[in-house]
Amino acid sequence: MTENQLHAVQPDWKARALIDDDTYRAWYEESVRDPEAFWGKHGKRIDWSKPFTKVKNTSFDDDVVIRWFEDGETNVSVNCIDRHLEKRGDQVAIIWEGDDPKDDRKITYRELHDQVCRLANVLKDNGVQKGDRVTIYMPMIPEAAYAMLACARIGAVHSIVFGGFSPDALAGRIVGCESTFVITADEGLRGGKKIPLKDNTDKAIDIAARQYVMVNKVLVVKRTGGAVSWANGRDIWFHEAVEKASPDCPAEAMNAEDPLFILYTSGSTGKPKGVLHTTGGYLVYASMTHEYVFDYHDGDVYWCTADVGWVTGHSYIVYGPLANGATTLMFEGIPNYPDQSRFWQVIDKHQVNIFYTAPTALRALMGAGDDYVTSSSRKSLKVLGSVGEPINPEAWEWYYRVVGDSRVPIVDTWWQTETGGILITPLPGATDLKPGSATRPFFGVQPQLVDAEGGVLEGAADGNLCIVDSWPGQMRTVYGDHERFVQTYFSTYPGKYFTGDGCRRDEDGYYWITGRVDDVLNVSGHRMGTAEVESALVSHDKVSEAAVVGYPHDVKGQGIYCYVTLMNGVEPTDELRKDLVAHVRREIGAIASPDKIQFSPGLPKTRSGKIMRRILRKIAEDDYGALGDTSTLADPAVVDDLVANRQNKK
Ligand code: PRX
Repeated sequence: MTENQLHAVQPDWKARALIDDDTYRAWYEESVRDPEAFWGKHGKRIDWSKPFTKVKNTSFDDDVVIRWFEDGETNVSVNCIDRHLEKRGDQVAIIWEGDDPKDDRKITYRELHDQVCRLANVLKDNGVQKGDRVTIYMPMIPEAAYAMLACARIGAVHSIVFGGFSPDALAGRIVGCESTFVITADEGLRGGKKIPLKDNTDKAIDIAARQYVMVNKVLVVKRTGGAVSWANGRDIWFHEAVEKASPDCPAEAMNAEDPLFILYTSGSTGKPKGVLHTTGGYLVYASMTHEYVFDYHDGDVYWCTADVGWVTGHSYIVYGPLANGATTLMFEGIPNYPDQSRFWQVIDKHQVNIFYTAPTALRALMGAGDDYVTSSSRKSLKVLGSVGEPINPEAWEWYYRVVGDSRVPIVDTWWQTETGGILITPLPGATDLKPGSATRPFFGVQPQLVDAEGGVLEGAADGNLCIVDSWPGQMRTVYGDHERFVQTYFSTYPGKYFTGDGCRRDEDGYYWITGRVDDVLNVSGHRMGTAEVESALVSHDKVSEAAVVGYPHDVKGQGIYCYVTLMNGVEPTDELRKDLVAHVRREIGAIASPDKIQFSPGLPKTRSGKIMRRILRKIAEDDYGALGDTSTLADPAVVDDLVANRQNKK
């Protein structure tokens, strides 16, 4: 199999597809020639309480302004719920599949409306107002979606923190957006293991208080019934409050550019940034991509395995699907519990038509053997999706051949927290597939490859991926720090949005994402900055300095390799190594667990004191024969010691 082997659109798709190749080309052409007309038309796919008259007001120059549909008014929860009630009030909106295969629930649009309205009233009764930030730290239960939609209903801005993050990481995000209201659960449940969410929240609230951000209300869902400590006057049981609340809650009319949510994400430097998404453009883009990328038809059962703690969960578990009146499946568990056939069993159990997951999960399941897959039917499947990291052609082929029985198209969707929705992707009825390529841009998206100096590369080329004009789902700013937004995304190549990804364009104009070109790691599809792991390491009292790089990992995509210099006189022992791993997990969360720790008395630095990461990456990859120019090092002998003690010998 060469990487350029095409999997042509299958003949039966000609009849089913919402978008065929001719339509794709025609719409794409219009979308870049006349974005005003194109988005003016498609902006009407959602309901507006006050229709917009302006479509696009965007500039990537100087201060960077991004406004879409700016004089329109709408409400996201109305679009995701109320407008469906007449036609599909009794249709299932959310299928919930619990961690334990015996646990499941179905929530209709009418029930969703009732729950969201009640919860919105609980928020209001407890002082939450339009514009206030509400932190959501929850397991994958329907109440997490209710919480998002209840915030949207009253104009509060949610900030979801992934349930796997530590109290410290949670506190940082509470403080970052000065959030005084938290919604959580007693405990989460994943793979049969309990996660002490309320306990973590209590700790985070104490840490935040030391930074003068006082959380005054905590709404707690009873998930497991495990014992939790309770602060009277501050803590409220979710079920008690919701039961008492009125199910009648008129939605707040929101301007298209009013904030909808903040989501913290890692960059190459400093603390995670609060990516801000707004109301109208985001919902138009999330719903439109959901419909066309997955070729969603009325009645399809759609399952995205992400967590609502990440952007994929925002756009493609909750907002996109519900805006389209879809049935969306929410999964609390993990792919290998009770065993490695769980995904495929859930697909059969709920007759899932569209399945969207991450390459890291596929690689892990692929290793378990095909029997786990082939023992299930999977006949209901129509579209398979991949997201979060480059999918290697082997995993792609396995997904195609074994999971999809060589009959189901795969959409390899490239996008980012910042982009709000999918930017580069096949459309199942329009795009011939190449394993490992995200293929072509979605409507309105104009990718450009540039070299290190910003020179534009034409035709088949390898370079840094920029996007040259705005699309409605784009982030608007970094919460509270517009200057950082401009600096991070628009200063490397002025006038262009720089994605941080490397990319190749082939002779057919297909895009192949090659991975981050900055100091952002992608570990099992989870994004983190090397700087965050380094700062967790140096906060240990025995560590004087640390440098962290990624290295290729068969299952995780990238592993975390840490070079650690200890304080004078501290013995480098295996026990200390374990202690450092535990320390990083405590500081950030299990997703940041170092895979390799190398004790290194010295780090390779230039004479001006800058760590030469290029060399550290090569050693971590066990590719030390190709270290390149080391003549600018202050002390070249450091490298010999690093090579001799490398932890990743092949
Ligand atoms: O490097 C790209 C990778 O994930 C990064 C964005 O991470 P995050 O903001 O956490 O969002 C993940 C879910 C959208 C990108 O800069 N990435 C995402 N999707 C793909 C991908 N790399 C290759 N192929 C993809 N399909």
